[in-house]
Amino acid sequence: MNPAYQEPWYHRATLYHIYPLSFADSDGDGFGDLKGIIQHLDYLNDGTSESLGVEAIWLSPVYVSPMADWGYDVVDHTAIDPRFGTMADFERLLAEVHRRGMKLLLDYVPNHTSILHEWFEEARASRKSLKRDWYIWADPAGDGGPPNNWLSRFGGPAWTLDETTGQYYMHSFLPEQPDLNWRNPGVRDAMLDVLRFWLDKGVDGFRTDAVYGLVKDKVLRDDEPNPNYRPGISDPADMFSRVHSSGQQELGSVIGSFCEVLAHKADTFLLSEAYLNIAGLRDLYQACREHPLHAPFNFNLMGLSWGAHYFRSFIDEYEAMLGPNDWPNYVLGNHDRHRLVKRVGPQRARLLGMLQLTLRGLPVVYYGEELGLSDTHVNKNQRRDPWGIRVPGYGLGRDVARGPMPWNSDIDAGFTTGVPWLPIASTAAHLNVEQESRQPSSSLNLYRHLIHLRTQSPALTEGDYRSLQLDNPYVYGYIRETELQRFLVILNFDNHHAVVTLKGKVGAWVAGTEVVDGDGQEPLDGLVELGPYEGRMYELIRGGK
Ligand code: GLC
Ligand code: MG
Repeated sequence: MNPAYQEPWYHRATLYHIYPLSFADSDGDGFGDLKGIIQHLDYLNDGTSESLGVEAIWLSPVYVSPMADWGYDVVDHTAIDPRFGTMADFERLLAEVHRRGMKLLLDYVPNHTSILHEWFEEARASRKSLKRDWYIWADPAGDGGPPNNWLSRFGGPAWTLDETTGQYYMHSFLPEQPDLNWRNPGVRDAMLDVLRFWLDKGVDGFRTDAVYGLVKDKVLRDDEPNPNYRPGISDPADMFSRVHSSGQQELGSVIGSFCEVLAHKADTFLLSEAYLNIAGLRDLYQACREHPLHAPFNFNLMGLSWGAHYFRSFIDEYEAMLGPNDWPNYVLGNHDRHRLVKRVGPQRARLLGMLQLTLRGLPVVYYGEELGLSDTHVNKNQRRDPWGIRVPGYGLGRDVARGPMPWNSDIDAGFTTGVPWLPIASTAAHLNVEQESRQPSSSLNLYRHLIHLRTQSPALTEGDYRSLQLDNPYVYGYIRETELQRFLVILNFDNHHAVVTLKGKVGAWVAGTEVVDGDGQEPLDGLVELGPYEGRMYELIRGGK
């Protein structure tokens, strides 16, 4: 790391999202673990341009959990699940991450706990329990059914009857994940303490899970019918618009309280998980006006219609919405969505990878995305994700995006010496770290090259973004520039060749989706012909308005 660099680390880092169960298994139980991650840190960043070069890592949950939702059902927020290792392993991981100049973010799960959490056990013991109000309880409706029409994201009602006390408790996700009541000050205090615990341990920030539904309507009004819902086609959980079960105005103050806690420590950063359009993102940025160390994830690139125009207008609008202290971010995949390559195909995936890594703002890369991995095939009897199991037939199962990381061409992909918890992808024999490291134009080398360029180029980290009006509607082009450095990126969204005139622009090739490295490539001189889905970046030497 460059010690002279003054900006916050997240202005220059690429954030690498690890799903710990699937990254590397050190003890042969078939589940990835902390020691496995430690063993592969050099892959992420060994201080040289040989490694991927990411400067921050986010871990999906590693806390004690019965794994009903694979760790997103937490029993103890401040202890490590034995499946992942020990607290000593965690401390070593953190030290090793820091030693390599990287930052570590944990997954903070404030919306719910596991049904086995001691808070819930206490709450459900009696209506008079001191912790009763830490969760959301309501009497049955007149007919004995659930108190309102709220639906669980993972199938069925958001309410489960607790026989002992005769009331329903609310869960936005599984019945094994009862929602906490964020209107209760005790919950706030206890959950903010969780943040303090990990900050004291030395972590650099958090990704906050399922933020949008944290606060619910006080009087539990019914959600409203969703006009876009198509029975039998849409996810059944989308039957209603979650106007009362999520998105309440008080959410801002809760996020603000997270930022207050993080602000006590230097160099921290918070990302909130919420699937929102630009107006919704603007509201969440507002929540931490006092402490600009927070950003809501921008998931929109995953849902845009394909075309240079759609991407350009979305990004221009997003950029225009951001305040001077707001830091943008771009996500192309995560553990809840089909993999990028599955959604758009390998060529478009490379183009979007180039887009993401050359835009202004924090790029978030989901493990394996850099290898160009597609979904893993998972048979019915290999399924692990409760969502896919509870709501079959809609393609909702998330196992396909959570396949073991392929490290080499061995039968077990170098992931485990035991039986992997999810099957190894059939492509692992050729799409893996070892193979791709040797191929100059592999997806891995494309990511590696772009990530290093990014880290080293002020124009890409701190520079302005400005899109260009080009003479070819299939090509999206933009400039990234500081006073001293200027890059031009041109991306062909069409599956045919595309010619663009770039009058007066002269520059050196620095990166491309086809020819990854700039060395020996033709310089730019006025006219460019791009291949299908080809992207290129030039460093402009003069002109370049
Ligand atoms: C978030 C997580 C997802 C999890 C859910 C419940 O959406 O990303 O994996 O199942 O919250 O915690
Ligand atoms: Mg293991």
